[in-house]
Amino acid sequence: MSRSQFHPLQFNERTGEPFLRLPSPHDNIIITTPRMSDAPTVIANMNNPAVYKWLDGPPFPYHAEHADSWLESVKKDTDVAFEELERAQTEHPNEPPVAVDSCPVRIIREVHEDGTDVLLGDVMFVRERWPDVLDKEAKDALAKPNSERPAGDPEIIWCIGDYIAPSHQGKGIMTAAIKTLMNEWWIPRMGVRQIRAETFDDNVGSRRVFEKLGFVYEKTVPLENKFLNSGRKISGMDILWWRAE
Ligand SMILES: CC(C)(COP(=O)(O)OP(=O)(O)OC[C@H]1O[C@@H](n2cnc3c(N)ncnc32)[C@H](O)[C@@H]1OP(=O)(O)O)[C@@H](O)C(=O)NCCC(=O)NCCS
Repeated sequence: MSRSQFHPLQFNERTGEPFLRLPSPHDNIIITTPRMSDAPTVIANMNNPAVYKWLDGPPFPYHAEHADSWLESVKKDTDVAFEELERAQTEHPNEPPVAVDSCPVRIIREVHEDGTDVLLGDVMFVRERWPDVLDKEAKDALAKPNSERPAGDPEIIWCIGDYIAPSHQGKGIMTAAIKTLMNEWWIPRMGVRQIRAETFDDNVGSRRVFEKLGFVYEKTVPLENKFLNSGRKISGMDILWWRAE
C-alpha cells in the first residue's frame, strides 16, 4: 500500500499539474486539472452540435464569459480536492491513503510528441442530483440526505456528466477515461459504491459507454416539455446504475 496521500496521481514535470494516464492504446491521453487558457477549446466544443445536442445545462450559444465562469468554477473544485490531499499528506504522511470526498482531476487532454497538449473533454463526478425528478420537493427529499452523507459513505449515490470533442468521439476514449477514474480514484480513494447515470433516451453512444463499463439499464423516464438551451426537445432520460459487487 502506498504511503503517499497523492497515490496514484502522477505530476507533470513542466507544470506541476496532477494527472492520471489512460492505459495503452490511449496512453497519450491524460486526465488532469483545468486551466483558464482552455477557454477557446471549450467554446469551440460547446458550440458544436455533436456536443451541445446531448448536454443538459450549458448555455447556448456558448460565449467566452460562459467558458471563463465554467473554468473558474471547475478549477475551484479541483483546487479544493487537491488541498484536501495536501492536508492529508501533512497530517498522515506515512499512512495508507485516507478516504477523500472529491476527485482532483477531470479534464481529458491529448499529449503531443512535443509535450504540448490539447483539451479533449471533461468528466464531471458529483453527488447525484436527480435531474429526471422535476418536482422540487421530491428532488430535495432525495438530494439533501445524499449531499449530507460523510466522505467515503458507501450509501452516497454519485453521478457522471461527460463529453469529448467530436474529432475524438467513437475511439474508445471516454470508456477508457471513466474506467481509469473509477479504478484509480473514485472507488479506491473516494469509496464509491453506487453511481447513477442519466442519458437522453436517443443518446445511443453515451448509453453504450455506460453499458461497456458495467452499468445496468433501469428505466426510461418520459419528459414532457423538456427543452435544451439550444431549443432541442428531449422526450426522455434513460437511467442506468453501477453498483459495487
Ligand atoms: C457519449 C460520448 C461521451 C462517448 O464518448 P466516446 O469516447 O465517443 O465513447 P467510446 O468510443 O468509448 O464508446 C462509444 C460507443 O458507442 C457506440 N456508438 C456511438 N454512437 C452510436 C450510435 N449512434 N449508434 C450505436 N452505437 C453508437 C460506439 O460504437 C461505441 O461502442 P462500441 O465500442 O461497442 O463500438 C461522446 O460521444 C460525446 O461526448 N458525445 C457528446 C456529449 C454526450 O453525449 N455526453 C454524454 C451525456 S449523457
